[in-house]
Amino acid sequence: MDLVPEMLKTAKREIKKAKVQTRVKQLLEGSIDDLSMFGDETFDAVLCLGGPLNHLLNIKQRVKAASELVRVAKKDAPIFVSVISRIGLPKTILVGFPHEMKYAETHLETGDYVPGLNGEGFTAAHWFLPEELRELFETQGVEALEMAGLEGLSSHHEKETNRLYKDQEKWKMWIDVLLKTCTHPSVVGGAEHFLLVGRKQG
Ligand SMILES: C[S@@+](CC[C@H](N)C(=O)[O-])C[C@H]1O[C@@H](n2cnc3c(N)ncnc32)[C@H](O)[C@@H]1O
Repeated sequence: MDLVPEMLKTAKREIKKAKVQTRVKQLLEGSIDDLSMFGDETFDAVLCLGGPLNHLLNIKQRVKAASELVRVAKKDAPIFVSVISRIGLPKTILVGFPHEMKYAETHLETGDYVPGLNGEGFTAAHWFLPEELRELFETQGVEALEMAGLEGLSSHHEKETNRLYKDQEKWKMWIDVLLKTCTHPSVVGGAEHFLLVGRKQG
């Protein structure tokens, strides 16, 4: 599901490229805060990845989306939710968008980000703290099992990480370090994106 038809076209293309068409039942245009087309406890697992929650601009919408995502999950089903990090964002600006430095701290207190005029900056968004995402789902009856910084210690070091790939021995060592450290609280919030892995309580 995605809100934007253009993104569904991209999804269709990517599904074909990966040759997994037979494993995809449906592509749906819609918003995660209204899953009324699905009954309660429909799905074995729920994945809300790529940060759609960041684009729900007020708290009521985010609570509604969390309650909908949990409602459609079966009891005990795993729930995976990833978002863009509030603390990681200034580093993203430092590394990739230094000309947008004026947006690096305006959102820090509330998480609410308002873009500039003339297409400058990112689209309007709410950036999450790890404890905020955890609380959003815990209050909907989800047991939080794990939080992980998705890029881990490689976050904001894309060039250096890709360079290492040429040396497979070192690459494997680094992947091992990433996997061993990605759930440490000092890594979770500082990564560009982080993931909550939870379970709907029975
Ligand atoms: C940062 S992009 C990620 C795109 C892609 N899913 C990925 O992981 O690379 C966030 C996506 O969330 C979608 N989105 C924004 N608000 C949404 C909503 N209320 N419901 C569903 N999708 C939404 C956007 O259209 C966009 O495709």
